[in-house]
Amino acid sequence: MIKYFDLKRINASFGEDLKTALNRAANSGWYIRGNEVEQFENEFAAYVGTNYCIGVGNGLDALTAVLMAWKQLYSWNNGDEVILPDNTFIATALAVTRAGLTPVLCEPHREIPTIDETQIERHITPLTRVIIPVHLYGLMCNMDAINKIAKKHHLKVLEDACQAHGAIYSSNAQLQLSTLFGRRAGNYSDAAAFSFYPAKNLGCMGDGGAVTTNDAELAERVRAITNYGQTEKYQHDYDGFNSRLDELQAAVLSVKLHRLDKDNTRRIEIAHYYSTHICHPAVELLPDITDNSHVYHIYAIKCKNRNYLQQLLLEHGIQTQVHYPISIHRQKAYSQYANLHLPISDHWADDELSLPLSPLMTDEEVQTVVNTINQNIF
Ligand SMILES: Cc1ncc(COP(=O)(O)O)c(C=O)c1O
Repeated sequence: MIKYFDLKRINASFGEDLKTALNRAANSGWYIRGNEVEQFENEFAAYVGTNYCIGVGNGLDALTAVLMAWKQLYSWNNGDEVILPDNTFIATALAVTRAGLTPVLCEPHREIPTIDETQIERHITPLTRVIIPVHLYGLMCNMDAINKIAKKHHLKVLEDACQAHGAIYSSNAQLQLSTLFGRRAGNYSDAAAFSFYPAKNLGCMGDGGAVTTNDAELAERVRAITNYGQTEKYQHDYDGFNSRLDELQAAVLSVKLHRLDKDNTRRIEIAHYYSTHICHPAVELLPDITDNSHVYHIYAIKCKNRNYLQQLLLEHGIQTQVHYPISIHRQKAYSQYANLHLPISDHWADDELSLPLSPLMTDEEVQTVVNTINQNIF
């Protein structure tokens, strides 16, 4: 069986390092907001290139906390609007709703999975406050265009970087190979949210998340909001909730962060192999992007017979997934959006299939996936 993502194998590959870190954290006698979290926050901020990183409980809370913080700081009203793509994981929309704001759903591109920046401006109204570009599947959005639109209309930009740890974006594609010229996901806007869910490119051993930003006031408010709105012990100045990265997860993340770039390089290598070797009339490949602006959290193909192909691959011992079969406007939880006409988002939901991809896949496994697709009729 070629697993979609073999988490046991991934974690085992860190050997004694993970056990040592977990033992250290477990034996420290301090489990919330201690040395491990502080160290990881500093390391991750340095890695992303931002001044601040705040560890939180998960990606949904990271998104929610930033929106709540801005709402408090700028006295936004309930119902003010946030533009986000319709083809994303539900958490992007839930965060907006939880903060008392209104999601405004935008189409993605047809060829690539990210929000279509040319469609954003037509959604802007006097109530618009934020744009959330989601770096879906690990591919960074067109941040230059999005930041330009935001600047013109005085909007905030919150990157949903939950699938794009380590991706680097530069306006000049030639320079994208280097962090000297490009900037990492999480450092290309006013603030960013990360998830460290176990299967992410940087994942812990439970739930975890972080906010990154260069804005000192926002960082301070997010830290307070995610700690019951507390500013000093038992002094609660703001509305808040409890969502903190814990010491054990931070210890795991510090170990794994050191291998993130290497793992992403291997992901890109596998993706490139898929893109240059899969050849089948029923399969539509996405552009082969190898410049680090895509860190291939997910390797997506499109196929009109998606469900049939998924079953066929499973019968050949190959696990796949679909990201995501139901777009936001078709979810029951958002039935008020059911009448929206978003055909490109529908097309992604109907046709997308995610092939197995993990940095530890062997060349033979990758070849087996390719051969099984190329040699079958569907
Ligand atoms: C695009 C996107 N946004 C938000 C989230 C939410 O992160 P979490 O599962 O840590 O709450 C995820 C991950 O699951 C995600 O993929």
